[in-house]
Amino acid sequence: MASNAAPGQPVYYDTPVRAFALAAVLWGIVGMLVGVIIAAQLTWPELNLGIPWLSYGRLRPLHTNAVIFAFGGCALFATSYHVVQRTSQVRLFMPRLAMFTFWGWQLVIVLAAITLPLGMTTSKEYAELEWPIDVLIAVVWVAYAVVFFGTLGIRKVRHIYVANWFFGGYILAIALLHIVNSAALPVSLTKSYSAYAGVQDAMVQWWYGHNAVGFFLTAGFLGMMYYYIPKQAERPVYSYRLSIVHFWALIFTYMWAGPHHLHYTALPDWAQSVGMVFSLVLLAPSWGGMMNGIMTLSGAWHKLRDDPILKFLIVSLSFYGMSTFEGPMMSIKTVNALSHYTDWTVGHVHSGALGWVGMISIGSLYFLIPRMFGRKQMYSMRAVELHFWIATLGIVLYIAAMWIAGVMQGLMWRAINPDGTLVYSFVESVKATFPFYVIRLCGGLLYLAGMLLMAWNVAMTIRNGKVVQAPIPMVPAHA
Ligand code: HEM
Ligand code: HEM
Repeated sequence: MASNAAPGQPVYYDTPVRAFALAAVLWGIVGMLVGVIIAAQLTWPELNLGIPWLSYGRLRPLHTNAVIFAFGGCALFATSYHVVQRTSQVRLFMPRLAMFTFWGWQLVIVLAAITLPLGMTTSKEYAELEWPIDVLIAVVWVAYAVVFFGTLGIRKVRHIYVANWFFGGYILAIALLHIVNSAALPVSLTKSYSAYAGVQDAMVQWWYGHNAVGFFLTAGFLGMMYYYIPKQAERPVYSYRLSIVHFWALIFTYMWAGPHHLHYTALPDWAQSVGMVFSLVLLAPSWGGMMNGIMTLSGAWHKLRDDPILKFLIVSLSFYGMSTFEGPMMSIKTVNALSHYTDWTVGHVHSGALGWVGMISIGSLYFLIPRMFGRKQMYSMRAVELHFWIATLGIVLYIAAMWIAGVMQGLMWRAINPDGTLVYSFVESVKATFPFYVIRLCGGLLYLAGMLLMAWNVAMTIRNGKVVQAPIPMVPAHA
């Protein structure tokens, strides 16, 4: 292992950063491959081959868990451990515990990959894993909090950089959400019943579900935005004051928006309206944050022309802006009456997931990985550029197809003849959706192809590089 440090000079502890970064690429490929398989199954259902553990209902949660918690989660662990050390200018607190979080998280992923296809599920969306795995998640997460906040506790820089506020907010909120929503009564090792019943169960579930979006799929990735965009653009954050307002406004507002998932259900009407109003308010902090990220490029716009990593990072923000405009619109009850149950929701999800979460993670990993292996940049920057274009094309195909399909389905389902009978049967809407499912599949294949290209590029970067131990500056400065 090479080291650039002078004798006796302390070094950062980057082993978990490297491990999580590589795991993110691997799980990204696995999760997206399952995404492509279920996209193909929706188009041609017989592709489940009659095998129960290949059935759509079992593979779908495997896809969502793999892309959110395995791909997104590993990217978040890697970047938060990297950022908190650099901005605090200390070595990671309790390095062994950090490695425990790595192996513990991989065990959670493997257990999920075994139990979900076997049909073991709590049937709560994004919280499908059964109680023993939930307990393991809670243990790993508490260890993560100890490592992260412990590192902040021993920091040498007085100021806590804003990226850490977002990472810290996400770690605390996920602990709270996971523990409350997973409360259950076990009846065997593989079966449990929720501690809540009826509409309370639904409300707790969607308080969890929406904040999983707000904190897992948003706040943590905003932490990436606030560190890697200024680094890659070599410019300070556009407005530091705005970043603080952004943080408090975002975390306060997200907590109340969950009921927009339960419009027109048994949930009291006033609670649905509270969810709608807070969702509309959420547009402001979301766009404030997006602007702050994009405007960080002020005076450096020309860099976008030939820096593919910046392209990933900045285009991710455009998708973030798009999905956080669309979300508030979909939370309006009358709009939701059209969009709910249709593929419009799936389009919205993937403009956030592929566009925002995927692109900001990929951009950050392209920044991080070469530095972790003693190289200035990735083995092939042309491959990074190509990845950017095929991923973008893939997203556009995916989300445009789903938007058109979704609005079409909503309109077909509500069309009635003058005598009050339905104009279309359900199966007619399924037939009309077929071409859009084919287009979505093509979009998904392109996005997956981009990830495979990334894996090759990462492998070549590692082959031509070496693990380095980066020295901690002797005189604390702003990172
Ligand atoms: C190659 C890339 C991908 C493909 C082909 C793909 C495909 C799919 C398909 C076919 C579904 C089921 C839709 C339905 O039930 O009608 C789905 C659901 C979902 N995917 Fe993906 N996906 C991909 C990447 C991702 C990524 C990277 C994320 C997150 C970071 C993600 C998050 C989700 C979520 C949250 C759902 C559930 C949506 C809902 O319940 O409305 N996907 N995906
Ligand atoms: C201001 C921000 C946002 C608001 C107000 C919002 C609002 C909404 C609404 C109203 C729905 C449809 C609920 C339904 O009809 O069942 C929805 C679904 C969803 N949104 Fe968002 N959204 C926002 C941002 C995002 C972002 C950035 C992502 C991803 C990174 C995302 C991921 C999802 C997912 C996964 C679902 C599907 C949930 C499910 O039914 O399984 N949202 N959102």
